[in-house]
Amino acid sequence: MPQHAAADVFAWIDDEERARERAGLVRALRPRPADSPLLDLASNDYLGLSRHPETVRGAREAAERWGAGATGSRLVTGTTELHAELERELARFCGFEAALVLSSGYAANLAAVTALSDRGTLVVSDAGNHASIVDGCRLSRASTAVVPHADPDAVAKTLAGHEGRALLVTDSVFSVDGDAAPLTAHAEVCRAAGAALVVDDAHGLGVLGEGGRGALHAAGLAGAPGVVATLTLSKSLGSQGGAVLGPAKVIRHLVNTARTFIFDTGLAPAAAGAALASLRLLEREPERAGRAREVAAALYERLTASGLTAARPDAAVVSVRAPSASAALRWAADCRGAGLSVGCFRPPSVPDGVSRLRLTARGDLTGDEISRAVETILATAPSGATDARRA
Ligand SMILES: Cc1ncc(COP(=O)(O)O)c(C=O)c1O
Repeated sequence: MPQHAAADVFAWIDDEERARERAGLVRALRPRPADSPLLDLASNDYLGLSRHPETVRGAREAAERWGAGATGSRLVTGTTELHAELERELARFCGFEAALVLSSGYAANLAAVTALSDRGTLVVSDAGNHASIVDGCRLSRASTAVVPHADPDAVAKTLAGHEGRALLVTDSVFSVDGDAAPLTAHAEVCRAAGAALVVDDAHGLGVLGEGGRGALHAAGLAGAPGVVATLTLSKSLGSQGGAVLGPAKVIRHLVNTARTFIFDTGLAPAAAGAALASLRLLEREPERAGRAREVAAALYERLTASGLTAARPDAAVVSVRAPSASAALRWAADCRGAGLSVGCFRPPSVPDGVSRLRLTARGDLTGDEISRAVETILATAPSGATDARRA
């Protein structure tokens, strides 16, 4: 019998696809053209730097000087002087002793959580954490305790009975509702319990803290002995890649033990060059960070004043509640039809089952663009959007 006539071993995928269609949860790729006419409130390009001439030049010059690829893993040939320079500048800018650059923020979270825990470690993880932290917990051999969202008392209770190594891991700004973690209270709880604090500042870098130095800098925790930050270079810095920042001995430990660092090709020089150029730009123009927060506040005020339900933004993410997953999908499509690109969060990407439009308050949006965005979102709002459950 020819092989292709055999039973379809992937028939179960058809069943799953049908179930996803019925629930309005199908995800599909939509390649965007280079000259998209859409107003972008969907990307993570918080400062609008991904196309900034200096950032693009940083990428181009790095590729010309160092080549298109890093050529190997960081411990073999994949560490160029450019990587070392980026690490020094990232650490200095954010206020940490040392930094380690990885190929993505995802890899950085896996590296930090797995390298800082072992079988006897208790990892306490906020229920709203990003999937890469969740996966880091799964990959570590530690016991993981998931605690209610942004609840330092729950963290304290969970740590109380534990003997031995422990760490708390949390996003600084949560991607779904754009709310900030109570970092000061978390740090106190960790200090009292002798636990490390690992904070994913993916959405804080470039937006929070003095000149965009991040949420830990804003909380006075940058460089504190028991504190580690993870970052992505793909949001405010408009590039690609990730980093772990912390005490030099933590970084040396990661170099020796973090599998997503050791067994992964180094970050492409163009991405390192772009991130470095963005970082220098941000240092020269610190007002960019505050502008992203102002745009977020303006979007929130105007949308909620018109009856929509949104969480008050602590950084540059504005999350607007939708009545259902299918309504959210239609709403985002209608926005797109009217020239506005917005994000759409549905289960399983939302912890509470409530679907949302997710708006990026880009710091480079003009007043006219903010007005156009608000008018489009209101004009396309589904019935029931104003009744969506409050945060
Ligand atoms: C909170 C958070 N952490 C980590 C990541 C992963 O970063 P990267 O896209 O660089 O892998 C993201 C987003 O993508 C994120 O939102």
